[in-house]
Amino acid sequence: MRCSLTTFFTLGLAVVSLAAPTVSPYNVHEKRNAIPIGWSHTRRHESAATLPLRIALKQSNIESIDEYLYDVSHPESANYGKHWTAGEISRKFSPSEESISTVRDWLVENGLASERIRVSPTKGWINVDVTVEEAERLMNTEYNVYTHVSGQEHVACEAYRLPEHISPHVDFVLPSVNFDVKLKRRSGSQPKPVGGIGQPGAGITPKTTGSVSQTVTELEQCDEYITPVCLRALYDLEYEPVATDKNSFGVVEYTPQAYLQTDLQMFAMNFSTDLIGKEPVMVSIDGGYAQTEYQGFDYNGESDLDLQYGMSLVTGSQNVTLYQTGDMVEGASFNNFLDAIDGSYCTFEGGDNYTVDSQYPDPYGGGYEGPEDCGTVTPAYVISTSYGYNEADLTPFYTARQCAEYAKLGLMGVTILYSSGDYGVAGNDDVCLNPDGSQTTTGMIFNPTFPGTCPYVTSVGATMVKPNATVYQVQPEMACMDVIYSGGGFSNYFAMPSYQMTAVDYYLENYPPNYPSDIWNSTGMSRALPDISANGANYVVAVDGEFELVYGTSCSSPVSGAIFTMINDARLAAGKSTIGFINPTIYSAGFAGAFNDITEGSNPGCGTEGYNATIGWDPVTGLGTPNFTMLLENWLALP
Ligand SMILES: *[C@@H]1O[C@H](CO)[C@@H](O)[C@H](O)[C@H]1NC(C)=O
Ligand SMILES: *[C@@H]1O[C@H](CO)[C@@H](O)[C@H](O)[C@H]1NC(C)=O
Ligand SMILES: *[C@@H]1O[C@H](CO)[C@@H](O)[C@H](O)[C@H]1NC(C)=O
Ligand SMILES: *[C@@H]1O[C@H](CO)[C@@H](O)[C@H](O)[C@H]1NC(C)=O
Ligand SMILES: *[C@@H]1O[C@H](CO)[C@@H](O)[C@H](O)[C@H]1NC(C)=O
Ligand SMILES: *[C@@H]1O[C@H](CO)[C@@H](O)[C@H](O)[C@H]1NC(C)=O
Ligand SMILES: *[C@@H]1O[C@H](CO)[C@@H](O)[C@H](O)[C@H]1NC(C)=O
Repeated sequence: MRCSLTTFFTLGLAVVSLAAPTVSPYNVHEKRNAIPIGWSHTRRHESAATLPLRIALKQSNIESIDEYLYDVSHPESANYGKHWTAGEISRKFSPSEESISTVRDWLVENGLASERIRVSPTKGWINVDVTVEEAERLMNTEYNVYTHVSGQEHVACEAYRLPEHISPHVDFVLPSVNFDVKLKRRSGSQPKPVGGIGQPGAGITPKTTGSVSQTVTELEQCDEYITPVCLRALYDLEYEPVATDKNSFGVVEYTPQAYLQTDLQMFAMNFSTDLIGKEPVMVSIDGGYAQTEYQGFDYNGESDLDLQYGMSLVTGSQNVTLYQTGDMVEGASFNNFLDAIDGSYCTFEGGDNYTVDSQYPDPYGGGYEGPEDCGTVTPAYVISTSYGYNEADLTPFYTARQCAEYAKLGLMGVTILYSSGDYGVAGNDDVCLNPDGSQTTTGMIFNPTFPGTCPYVTSVGATMVKPNATVYQVQPEMACMDVIYSGGGFSNYFAMPSYQMTAVDYYLENYPPNYPSDIWNSTGMSRALPDISANGANYVVAVDGEFELVYGTSCSSPVSGAIFTMINDARLAAGKSTIGFINPTIYSAGFAGAFNDITEGSNPGCGTEGYNATIGWDPVTGLGTPNFTMLLENWLALP
């Protein structure tokens, strides 16, 4: 890491002396503090090589997106539930003609012939193939080749600059500082745990303590074995859906993670007979399919869990959509999924160079040969994802752009749930931040997960039934401290949204964490997570033909998603809108008491005890676990 930092500082100096005379001064547009784990700097990129430069233009009106979103999502708004169509969203946020012409003129002034410059059909991107030398001159930067421990190479820079009059029109430029690389499998070898979000061992993955040797039927045993009846009792979920033809619930899985139909049926026989013969409705994105080539807990645990519990809790009469994303060679990222449900976000605009961009159709052979899915998929009303990055894995620009996309889905009436992570205040794989921005297991600084830190996402933490407690007693749950710790804390990238200010201020004033201000974002001004929680311990899941005990916020997200789907069912049946972006509603005074407040336990990490679960919202279990009866009553009272 020392070596790469030296490179960075040397680069900084080199850039100053390179700066070409321009009418407007250059400012740093994006920079990384450190190269991500697993990568190292290899060499300067050849100056004559071609880079397919893609300039993401600033969307119009995007600064007002939270205003629009709260207008349709705040329970006291006159427009509550009046969600927008995809067309309305596209018209509102397309980049302006002024942005397009300003950036185009700048490229032409710098010697790029106008016939080389292409504007994407959605007007979101300007694409131009340039040489590395041209790119370096345009953006006062240096392009390098980096190598991953797996051997894969990636072209990137560590910082780039734009003229002052261009910056306001540009969101970001690709390729540049991002390492959101789809790590590819080397031909002939097994997929390796190297970093793509679907790769075994990468990001948020459920844990298992092994197989269950006894028959589980008792509601008295929920402190040791969670089954659907336990969750129904804990969250008061007795509901038979009636609007299944109008409603939808989607679970996203990233290849090579895959569910097995035989496991779903094994689970159905023991715990959910209404699922006998039932399959999820498969929607393949970028060649995704439920692969059976690689099996084992690391390949099947996540998807088996998500579908067995998600499908069981919405009952066999409600279809569940499985968004299987990415092929076996490249896999996929959240942006691939978002591209598929929003064509205007899609980065596949005809100007890509697949050698550099590792996009679809998969250029490596043996993968998906079709075009990248781009606006081809209709989003379900509730979408649960049990995968995640650490916020620090990605740049602020990248996360901001993806976050705005979740806001657009909220505007359309879609509820987006992400699990908050399984390492307490530490990041995935138990890594914490160092002062230089790098992440190591010896780091001391709390490391929140993304997309949970995006204020337009509902982040879900984990609880467990207290040892020896039963579901019949008052408050049987505490923060999960068995095998995993509930992810939670404060973002370093996103400001605190207004909806959670009262709740988080109450926590910070009454239970001020006694940690030095340089190991957590103590400003009181940053987005705090999780928002809610649900049980994440001792799940009985059929995996590869046997029942295993499974742990993680990976459990909590689909369970919460199923509960919100049943609320949508009742609202749709009453001729009302879906609940959409729920955060302004669930934090509102009218919903106080609709969540069971979790007040025991903590979320250790980074060599600390983490935060405590407390009365009211806390950065371990959020507002608490759902009480379906109360939520239903409150939501049916809204327009
Ligand atoms: C794509 O990039 C590679 C590597 O930089 C280069 O060799 C190739 O010519 C480029 N292809 C096109 C069509 O620009
Ligand atoms: C599932 O059902 C079978 C057949 O009744 C039983 O033998 C087995 O113990 C059950 N498994 C669990 C985990 O309850
Ligand atoms: C949920 O709320 C209802 C109404 O206040 C209450 O009767 C019920 O006991 C609660 N259920 C649980 C499981 O906390
Ligand atoms: C559920 O999915 C099945 C299989 O795709 C389909 O035949 C059926 O019509 C769907 N039911 C509803 C209510 O959408
Ligand atoms: C739970 O009950 C068992 C058996 O009665 C006892 O041995 C154990 O100490 C109890 N655990 C807790 C945490 O109370
Ligand atoms: C804390 O969060 C705020 C808002 O998200 C951000 O501006 C600030 O840079 C963060 N502080 C640190 C030390 O990361
Ligand atoms: C958590 O609670 C314990 C016991 O009351 C206390 O000693 C500790 O300081 C608290 N930790 C934080 C971060 O608030």
